Amino acid sequence: MKQANVTLFHPLQDRICDVLLPSSRIHERIREVAAEISRDYEGREIVLLCVLKGAMMFTADLMRHLEPPVVLDFVAVSSYGSATSTSGVVRIQKDVEEQLAGRHVLVVEDIVDTGLTLHYLLANLRLRNPASLKVCCLLDKPSRRRVEVPVDYLGFAIEDRFVIGYGLDFDEHFRNLGYIGVMEEESA
Ligand code: PRP
Repeated sequence: MKQANVTLFHPLQDRICDVLLPSSRIHERIREVAAEISRDYEGREIVLLCVLKGAMMFTADLMRHLEPPVVLDFVAVSSYGSATSTSGVVRIQKDVEEQLAGRHVLVVEDIVDTGLTLHYLLANLRLRNPASLKVCCLLDKPSRRRVEVPVDYLGFAIEDRFVIGYGLDFDEHFRNLGYIGVMEEESA
């Protein structure tokens, strides 16, 4: 049967005012970062810890370019606060399943904003005595930082704009976009 050619529009789709990072640029940078990580972890197994939900697409694309052995795990955290600002109080909603003691843990995040989420998560993970603990982040908004956090591997430093796509959401939408776009401020 012939499929109807129907395009579904999200009501806020026309508020995406700019493409910040096209898919090709994201994938090009991911290959560079993966090569750097592969060199640094040569001969060691990586416990790749994807921070849900935003980092899932980045993690999936990053890990297929990693050369060392990889064990994948997930953690889900939520921060209390309004839709656009975090309070710094973070709760683990889904904990890590792997034992981390003595292992090389690489946390994968989609974005570091205030740094509060990562700061809390790293403190929590350190208590489990990993052999090493590093961070790989696709996007960094340095102008928003409220607490210093180490970002060992970074995709892109960006300005303080409301970004969506490639795992990042607005009200849980747009995570499936293959590029990173910018939403108009009034809709964010
Ligand atoms: C985002 C992002 C980081 C955090 C960064 O997660 O994935 O975890 O915010 O913000 P911060 O540096 O100010 O703490 P979000 O709470 O939006 O959840 P999500 O990944 O499920 O979209």
